[in-house]
Amino acid sequence: MTIKLAVLLSGGGRTLVNLQEAIDAGRLDASVVLVISSLRTAKGVLRARELGHEALVIRPRDYDSPGAFAAAQTNAIEEAGAELVVMAGYLVHYPVPSGWEQRILNIHPSLLPDHGGVGLYGSRVHASVLARGDTVSGCTVHLVDDEYDHGRVLAQTEVPVLPEDDVDSLASRVFEAECRTYPRVIAAHAATLGLGGGAFDSGEAAG
Ligand code: GRF
Repeated sequence: MTIKLAVLLSGGGRTLVNLQEAIDAGRLDASVVLVISSLRTAKGVLRARELGHEALVIRPRDYDSPGAFAAAQTNAIEEAGAELVVMAGYLVHYPVPSGWEQRILNIHPSLLPDHGGVGLYGSRVHASVLARGDTVSGCTVHLVDDEYDHGRVLAQTEVPVLPEDDVDSLASRVFEAECRTYPRVIAAHAATLGLGGGAFDSGEAAG
């Protein structure tokens, strides 16, 4: 059954494009009902519109308080009829709304809890892996809670770190793993929640 997704982004939108490709290829039975960007200038906004998606810009700075920002975002997500929220390079703290504790997913380009947390995003993650001399990296899909890169891990995919790697080569190997992992885990997690027209037991289901 088709899962209705809201996608949150702040950057280039490669993850959104990957999800759309998985949907178009029949690997993920979902539809993107809304894209929200935390930045007006994010390339992901253009990519979303090119894909024919409604794309809103909702920025914390436009609201008086974090609570007002979160409420505006939650209202937009619920009005669009989304069942699952997927973070796709989203760099803003969005407190998990009540009833959504099992329904907000993120992907991070390392094997959490290593190389995660405040300030560790994008190429900084891969630089941190290389600086420590790790021989294995990968990606992590996890539930979002109120700490960065912290919620329950749903899946990890490992990739090797090669002696000749630099940040770019490692980033591209990890991103390939992300492209395989995220659609699969979104589908599996949605199935455990009975989403996509199935029964949904708010907050109770285990992923
Ligand atoms: C991905 O590497 C993902 O792991 C992380 O942000 C990146 C998204 O890239 N959360 P993009 O902004 O979709 O191009």
